[in-house]
Amino acid sequence: MTDITRDACLALDQADTLRHLRDLFELPSGAKPTIYLDGNSLGALPKATAAAVATVVRQEWGQDLIQSWNKAGWFKLPQQLGNQLAPLVGAGPGELVVTDTTSVNLYKVLCAAAELARQQQPSKRVLLSEASNFPTDLYIAQSVCKQYDLRLELADAQDMVGALTSDVAVLMLTHVNYRTGAMYDMTALTQAAHAVGALTVWDLAHSAGAVPVDLRAANADYAVGCGYKYLNGGPGAPAFVWANPRVVSATHQPLSGWWGHAQPFAFDAAYVPQVGIDQYLCGTQSMLAMAAMRCGLDVYEQAKAVGGMAAIRAKSLALTDLFMALCEARCTTFGLHNVTPIEHAKRGSQVSLAASTGGYAMMQALIARGVVGDFRAGAATGEADLLRFGFTPLYTRFVDVWDAVEHMVHMLQGQEWLRPEFNQAQAVT
Ligand SMILES: Cc1ncc(COP(=O)(O)O)c(C=O)c1O
Repeated sequence: MTDITRDACLALDQADTLRHLRDLFELPSGAKPTIYLDGNSLGALPKATAAAVATVVRQEWGQDLIQSWNKAGWFKLPQQLGNQLAPLVGAGPGELVVTDTTSVNLYKVLCAAAELARQQQPSKRVLLSEASNFPTDLYIAQSVCKQYDLRLELADAQDMVGALTSDVAVLMLTHVNYRTGAMYDMTALTQAAHAVGALTVWDLAHSAGAVPVDLRAANADYAVGCGYKYLNGGPGAPAFVWANPRVVSATHQPLSGWWGHAQPFAFDAAYVPQVGIDQYLCGTQSMLAMAAMRCGLDVYEQAKAVGGMAAIRAKSLALTDLFMALCEARCTTFGLHNVTPIEHAKRGSQVSLAASTGGYAMMQALIARGVVGDFRAGAATGEADLLRFGFTPLYTRFVDVWDAVEHMVHMLQGQEWLRPEFNQAQAVT
């Protein structure tokens, strides 16, 4: 793999059956080309989005006003988009809604799971998660633990099965780790959790649209995920929530707003939850955001004709394999080391390089060259500083991988990252 040339990468792009999907995106087109490797943080803009949002603004809101809740189908968009997204994560029709944020949805499902555990096995006291889980997941879990008198225990990924003791009520994991891109075996862990009587909550923020997920086949209990990463729904896009039909109506989520009521327009004083996943709705959603989210999901409709998630996964693995091999051959001498699993079954769609020093400045220097990834500090948790690179097969090309590594090597050789302007911290890294 390491004797691969730039021309060979161009040939791979020529042979790529997904290559035309890149044309559906509005990628930066300035004088200096941008290589965007941060779709795991904020997905690129689909070309259709601006016009779709403009239609909502000018026609549906501007002209049709309040009638659009019916006429434009606004009221049913959480369910409609949920049905569009469901096949990407192995959910059935009517099982998933697009709504709120990942953090808020996580709160809903964790409470529902904790309540179910309390009803069925009141002696269990532990909510188990991973030490290196995304902070919002841990923060929400801390709040739910207080509310349900549970104890949050954190284990390392490799010790997770061992940490599943009989005291575990709920196992909450992020399927693909935001730092390393390491992916859990969802089926095996769900099985192990069920074997000790624990319920599972999966965060699919770094999986949905990036790797094939089959919630039903894994027999998972609850899942949430993000709309603005690989699904390209736009900054702050609505997230999604799923509950297995086996448990969805067994308990109620705590945010009992009127959109989750069985008859919202009866304006009843008493809350009566909808049956099924609709009870996971809370209040009025942003229709501008929903319109943008639909454009992100529409791209996946077009991907179906060329192999869908299986083809996306195959290309993702080929892109990350290539990046890893080139970095191994050319960047390790500069102190950058891959921390993402080599094994395909254990990898999402990103690669992270640990930097012993200067990681933040290195990423800033790379961005100045037009290669956009991001940086995640590790000091607070005693972990390594990471340079993260996300690969979105819908618009990332093999030649982008080649060129990104070429830039990285030049940036490192020239010690560009030592320049003062790259060493000034900004609010968002
Ligand atoms: C695993 C994971 N969960 C949740 C979130 C964020 O959730 P929210 O959209 O509520 O900010 C992120 C954001 O990067 C994430 O990586």
